Amino acid sequence: MQLIDGNRIASDIIAELTATVAALPGRKPCLALVRVGEDPASVSYVKKKETTAATIGVTSRIILPPVTITQAGLEKLIDELNADPAVDGILVQSPLPKHLDELAIFRRVAPRKDVDGFNTINLGKVAQEDDTGFVACTPAGIMELLSRSGVDLKGKHVVVLGRSLIVGKPVALLALQKRAGANGTVTICHSGTHDLPAITRLADVLIAAIGRAEFVTADMVKPGAVVIDVGINRVPDATKKTGYRLTGDVHFPTVAPLCAQITPVPGGVGPMTVAMLMKNTVKARILSAAM
Ligand code: GUN
Repeated sequence: MQLIDGNRIASDIIAELTATVAALPGRKPCLALVRVGEDPASVSYVKKKETTAATIGVTSRIILPPVTITQAGLEKLIDELNADPAVDGILVQSPLPKHLDELAIFRRVAPRKDVDGFNTINLGKVAQEDDTGFVACTPAGIMELLSRSGVDLKGKHVVVLGRSLIVGKPVALLALQKRAGANGTVTICHSGTHDLPAITRLADVLIAAIGRAEFVTADMVKPGAVVIDVGINRVPDATKKTGYRLTGDVHFPTVAPLCAQITPVPGGVGPMTVAMLMKNTVKARILSAAM
């Protein structure tokens, strides 16, 4: 079994981007990070995005509207960022508080600044295999992890467990694309699928993004499979100072020995998401400079 080291691959990408940004003429790329509320995971993710941006030479603008902000108020904020020529990329951290319509906010972000890739236009471009848009960061990170680990999906059976807009659906489309590294045969399954283990056991490459701690057990994995664990779940653990530990959607101790390659949690997909966000932000800056 080989561990796919997301920290190492992400740091390679960050080094590449640092060199790209250093060579860019004019002002540095600028990323607006919008976080509403104090969800502890979101606080930590946004901080990570901020520090990684600083490492690369990307300017970040952290915007923390009050948790009581209305839908109209948040849409106005997005409109202002869309119109601001100093802002290249806009990210609204998900999940938003329940009183806000997250999908409407994702749609409000101008496609050319949608470095999260959640706008209808950018999701559509993934389906159309049009490279001019932005691919959502976690799915893009998964594809990059696979290609940089020597995993070619051509002719392989890729099973995606989970159908979210943020991961499951776009990663399935990417794996299916007619291009080098992709060309997979893709099955998407989810919590409502009958006899899930019978399907996941068919996977040459299993992408677990169902959002349930240690859901994938050894009986669900074909020996020799490549397993990508997208889950980041906080489970209570009294032995930890924080009171919790992070675990993926895969029961690592029993599944890992079966695998050809597997991503750990933490240190697998997570750091790649941030690296791909930076890549999208640099792309947004380059595209805006060319306009
Ligand atoms: N929450 C979990 N993953 C993501 C992501 O990739 N982007 C945003 N904006 N929120 C998230």
